[in-house]
Parts: sequence; structure tokens; C-alpha cells
Amino acid sequence: MSDIMKSAKFCEVALPNRFALAPMTRTSADADGTPNALMADHYERYARGGFGLLITEGTYTDDKASQGYANQPGIINEAQIEGWKVIVDRVHAAGSKIFTQLMHAGAQFQANRFTDQPLGPSEVAPKGAPLGFYGDQQLWQIPGAMSEADIQTAIDGFAQSATNAKAAGFDGIEIHGANGYLLNQFLSTHFNKRDDGYGGSLEKRLRLVVEVVRAVRKAVGDNYPVGIRLSQGTVTDPDYQLPEGAAGFRQIVEAVRDAGADFVHTTDGEVNRPHFTDGDQSLAGVAADVPGIGLILNGGIDETSCQEIANQFPGALLAVGKKALANPDFVQRLQDGKEIADINFEMLQPKATISNELAWRKKNAA
Ligand SMILES: Cc1cc2nc3c(=O)[nH]c(=O)nc-3n(C[C@H](O)[C@H](O)[C@H](O)COP(=O)(O)O)c2cc1C
Repeated sequence: MSDIMKSAKFCEVALPNRFALAPMTRTSADADGTPNALMADHYERYARGGFGLLITEGTYTDDKASQGYANQPGIINEAQIEGWKVIVDRVHAAGSKIFTQLMHAGAQFQANRFTDQPLGPSEVAPKGAPLGFYGDQQLWQIPGAMSEADIQTAIDGFAQSATNAKAAGFDGIEIHGANGYLLNQFLSTHFNKRDDGYGGSLEKRLRLVVEVVRAVRKAVGDNYPVGIRLSQGTVTDPDYQLPEGAAGFRQIVEAVRDAGADFVHTTDGEVNRPHFTDGDQSLAGVAADVPGIGLILNGGIDETSCQEIANQFPGALLAVGKKALANPDFVQRLQDGKEIADINFEMLQPKATISNELAWRKKNAA
């Protein structure tokens, strides 16, 4: 029986347990994208709360079209690298490890201090409406279709940001390929209507993802953890499915492995949700069947399901989102047999900032 609380090695990184904090955007950096003291306290709280690995919120990768939200942190200049260094050091001092999540927003674009023009694979907006807790924009803009030069700029941004993340002391890199952001848009037949080498067949829709993984791997060298978060659904279309079904998803996992990824991080509503156009497999189940690549799992993991999921997927890390927001000391509480709260979304209102959460906690302190 696998013990979730025992120290573990993941992609050669020594961890005190198999719990990870899921990446969560909090739009709390300085206006110029520099991580600040509030964020350092925030991440340190989760390390002290027992999470073996923290994955940062989605962090933008260039001074062009990658930023998606006001007050989103970046990792593209010295000040931002210095800001992250403080956070990394605080997390390490508390005994945890930390990966950064590198994100290009693509068409899921609510605010960007460098440009007003979102870019995506094609001139197709996301479904639904922008997320109210990240900004005031009421409607998605129609993105411009990326030229090959725009695509190269995006790839270069990921590679340079990976170099910067290594310089900041991060223990590894997670590329954001999930939830409807740029890389996920290229995989998706909703967003990607291209008829050049980056659109059409799954192999072509995968090309940008593969090129980004390769570029990041080249930037950081061989002995440094690099992985990618993958989903089918997006934040405003959680039930989207790849037309290529489970075999298509397997093809994506194999392609990122062959491009140099050490791990994939699957995210879905529930880890074990059957969610393909064919068969009854889950995203996690398909990824777990692919040899030669590590696995982080996410989706609905809580105090009652975690041990069973850990047993079902030996060696995988379990990334916790909402339960961690509700309980920054989720792992410690689990270990101590203490009560674990459910999320109250009021803590993220009217915006998902750390200061709104702290004000809510103060107001609701017993
Ligand atoms: C406030 C908030 C912010 C989020 N920001 C990100 C993000 O920056 N990157 C990402 O990959 N997922 C993000 N997510 C999704 C979570 O990482 C996670 O996949 C989701 O909450 C489902 O996991 P859970 O059931 O454990 O909450 C966010 C979720 C929430 C609630």
C-alpha cells in the first residue's frame, strides 16, 4: 500500500510527501507583474501547511501577448526574477519544493499591459464569458490569428522564462497546456481552425506544444524537471472533448514525453471522471498507462478520496486546489486528523486576490 504522507522522489526531486498545491491565479502581483511580499507570505503559508510541492499560479512569459490578467505575475525581467527568488527561498526554508507554471493566455485574455490585442491560433473567441473574479471585462475579444513569427515569439518567451525560472531557484517547470490557454487552444478543434503546419490533424495541432516543450528542455538542460499540464476542458467549456478520443490523448502524452517532458499533470473535474468521446477511461487513467513519464493528478481530490487515489496511481503526486484554498494547512490537518473545511467562494470575491481572501478570513475568524 502506498503511503501518501511518506517522503517521495518525483522527477529526482525529493519531497516530504506526495501532495502538491495546484496552480491558482490570484492576480496579486504588483501592477508591473513583480511578485511581492503578500505573495511570499501566501506561498509560504502553503509550505508551512504541509504541501510537499507548490506549483505557482500561471505566470506570463513575454512582453507581447502572453499576459492574460491584470496583476498577474510574470517572469520576464530582473525585478520579477528577484521577486520570485524571495518566494522560492521562503518556500525552501519551510521545507517544501516549488515549480513555476509558465502560461501564455492566448485568446483567454482579460488584461495585458503590453497590448490590447489577444492572439490565438485562429480568430475564434472562447465560449461563454470572461471570469468575473479575474477582471471586469464582460465579453471575450476576437483574437488575431497568430503568424509564424508570433508563434516563434511565444516559443522564445517560454524558453527564456524557463531560463529565468531556473535562475530564480525554482525546482522545476510546469508548462501550462490546459484549461483553454494558448497551448490548449492549439490542441482544441474549437479554437484551432488553421490549415497550415499548426492546424488540422492532431499531429499538426500538437506541433506548437511539442516545439514549446523542446525549447524549454533545451533552455534548462537535461537534469531539470520539466512537465506540462494537460486537460481537454477549458475554464468556460469544461466538457470539451478531443475528437480523437482516448487514443488522441495518449498520442499527446507520448509526444510531450518524446519532446523532453518528465511529467504530465492531468486536470479534470474529477481525477477518475470518464471523459472521452470513446470508452470509459479518465484523462489520468490514459496518462498513467504511458510508460516513461511522471504524473501529477488533479480534480476534486479531498480528504476522503486522496488515499484511494494515491493507491490507484502509485508514484503520482496529488494536486489539490479548492480544498487547499479552504485549508492552506490541508496536509497538516489531514496528518493531525483535524477537521477540513469546504471552500467558500466568498473568499475570492469580488476579485480572487490574496488581500480579499485575508479580509474574508479576518471577518469570518471564529
Ligand atoms: C482561484 C483559482 C485559480 C486558478 N488558477 C489556475 C492557474 O493559474 N493555472 C492552472 O493551471 N489552473 C488554475 N486553476 C485550476 C486549479 O489548479 C484546479 O485545476 C481546479 O481548482 C480543480 O482542482 P480542485 O478540484 O482540487 O479544486 C485555478 C483554480 C482556482 C479555483
